[in-house]
Amino acid sequence: MGYHAEYTASLQDPESYWLKAAEAIDWDVAPTQALFDRGDHIYEWFADTRVNTCYNAVDRHVENGRADQAAIIYDSPITGRKSTTTYAELQTRVAALAGGLAAKGVTKGDRVIIYMPMVPEALEAMLACARIGAVHSVVFGGFAANELAVRIDDCTPKAIIAASCGLEPNRVVAYKPLIDGAIELADHTPEFTVILQREENPCELGVNDVDWYDFQQGTTPAPCVPVEGTHPAYILYTSGTTGAPKGVVRPTAGHLVALNWTMKNIYDVDPGDVFWAASDVGWVVGHSYICYAPLIAGNTTVVFEGKPVGTPDASTFWRVISEHNVRSFFTAPTAIRAVKRDDPEGKLAANFDLSGLRALYLAGERADPDTIEWAQELLGKPVYDHWWQTETGYTIAGNPAGLEALPVKIGSPTVPMPGYDVQILDDAGHPLPAGELGAIVVKLPLPPGTLPTLWNAPERFKKSYLHAFPGYYETGDAGMIDDDGYLYIMARTDDVINVAGHRLSTGGMEEVLAGHKDVAECAVIGVTDQLKGQMPVGFLCLNTASKRDHAEVVAECVKRVRDQIGPVAAFKLAVVVDRLPKTRSGKILRGTMVNIADNTPFKMPATIDDPAILDEIKVALQSIGYAAG
Ligand code: COA
Ligand code: AMP
Repeated sequence: MGYHAEYTASLQDPESYWLKAAEAIDWDVAPTQALFDRGDHIYEWFADTRVNTCYNAVDRHVENGRADQAAIIYDSPITGRKSTTTYAELQTRVAALAGGLAAKGVTKGDRVIIYMPMVPEALEAMLACARIGAVHSVVFGGFAANELAVRIDDCTPKAIIAASCGLEPNRVVAYKPLIDGAIELADHTPEFTVILQREENPCELGVNDVDWYDFQQGTTPAPCVPVEGTHPAYILYTSGTTGAPKGVVRPTAGHLVALNWTMKNIYDVDPGDVFWAASDVGWVVGHSYICYAPLIAGNTTVVFEGKPVGTPDASTFWRVISEHNVRSFFTAPTAIRAVKRDDPEGKLAANFDLSGLRALYLAGERADPDTIEWAQELLGKPVYDHWWQTETGYTIAGNPAGLEALPVKIGSPTVPMPGYDVQILDDAGHPLPAGELGAIVVKLPLPPGTLPTLWNAPERFKKSYLHAFPGYYETGDAGMIDDDGYLYIMARTDDVINVAGHRLSTGGMEEVLAGHKDVAECAVIGVTDQLKGQMPVGFLCLNTASKRDHAEVVAECVKRVRDQIGPVAAFKLAVVVDRLPKTRSGKILRGTMVNIADNTPFKMPATIDDPAILDEIKVALQSIGYAAG
């Protein structure tokens, strides 16, 4: 069947469609029914099953002839280390780590926070949790202690599994002080922390800390514990409109079925092929495509501890692809832009044999046409943009290259994937005709593997995603569908911005800025950035009594965001202004401020309180190099 037939079948008879896809999974109790309608627009998939994710990602491959195949290739241009872990070795290591966790009382349903850099042990920790039915929540290393504390309080983990440090090209990031700081800030206290000591910066262990290796000594390797199909495989926090992150819950069975389906149909890899997603385990791309999907499908996954440029140069991607014979490669457009900036003519790629590479996949932010065209020309291979979110865990719209490669239209991530009935609605919820811009929604139910709820926040789940358009999931993106059914993603409809492929909340940054003693009011917007897609810019109105030097306040605010959210927020620019532009009802006109910064034409908002403020904003932006002309 080609794409259109598959897509139609998935919407007309989702039951048969997903039961068929489920046959590729090894079940302890196989599904007799796929979809369960729980009423009030709440659905579950494969609720009558029992299954174990780690068994499907590791053990079954050992049993089925892949014991000696590489499961993980670790390549760290930062340390110069490389290693290969076979499926049999991975099974031994994961079972031992899971045994250590079980011996310390971690059991099915307990939460475990994982705070680790890009090392194979991060995947082992995720799989060890899955093995015993513990629910992991991986926290990205670029977040500060405060963000870690928020996650500790929300998911109340029994344990933390961490490394002593992460390695950025320009510095060693000591994790232990961040963990200690987070535990100090949090109300909840995890029982213990397992620390993987890295030679670049080993740390001193406290009374509640155990060494990664000591902790596994003398314990019994843990078997795989079958869990209900709806059991949470993991919680992954992502940015929403406010500073409180949303804990996206991933259901076990749907995750297995859907991710396995994507490896052949979207990424066109067969078991045994090498697949590489150059992202980080702290993001959803890392969960789905560094850890779970390639392993579930019996591929070899690459754990890359480096950057697209500077480790050591813009040839690193090409070196890794040729050295490890990568067949499908996935990264964020910003990473390709960074390579292009350092090596505009792509000369470095010529030094490597890239003949094994079949295609480049881009996601995480808008893929600009220049970047796609540059990569297409350089590689002489298809470049596929695809669109998805932490909430879905895999592609909503993409090019199903393994099923039927559709013509690429630059600027579009192509078409909705099976199970996703994507529609464009106006503000009142009416369907819009082809070519018209509106809210991108997905008719419920969403397909398997997508979020069934938010951790600890079922009402927030409904409010954030289900209330605006009853019967539909609100993606938070705006866009349109053309006459050929191709989707175009134009902008977010909320206060989320995308900086270097990282999803960040401007509302969260505003909360931090508002906490500064001299700041009376503030706004953060995402302005267009050539490299990172967007960059946050803060506008600060100071208390009338404040006589502080503006530059000093700005520097303190920049430090504050770095300390409280983390370096990943990339918050470096702020200006002091007298007033913020608002509507008469007091809503800050952030969109108009973005237009001014980016020099894009805009209509004067009819409800603006005082248009003169826009001139002041322009002058302020010009003082930091934006709104030229
Ligand atoms: N731990 C600690 N700090 C981290 C970190 C981590 N895991 N990841 C990033 N940071 C820090 C960086 O060191 C940087 O700190 P600095 O302000 O001291 O320089 C800051 O966070 C901002 O990082 P980033 O936005 O990534 O910018 P950069 O200038 O370091 O690198 C790119 C730019 C384009 C090379 C880089 O963003 C990149 O590789 N992007 C790919 C994006 C990606 O994989 N996204 C995942 C979704 S698919
Ligand atoms: P995240 O949850 O971090 O994966 O971020 C999801 C958001 O990133 C989406 O809602 C979009 O706003 C944006 N995004 C992801 N992929 C794309 C893409 N291919 N094109 C445009 N925007 C994208």
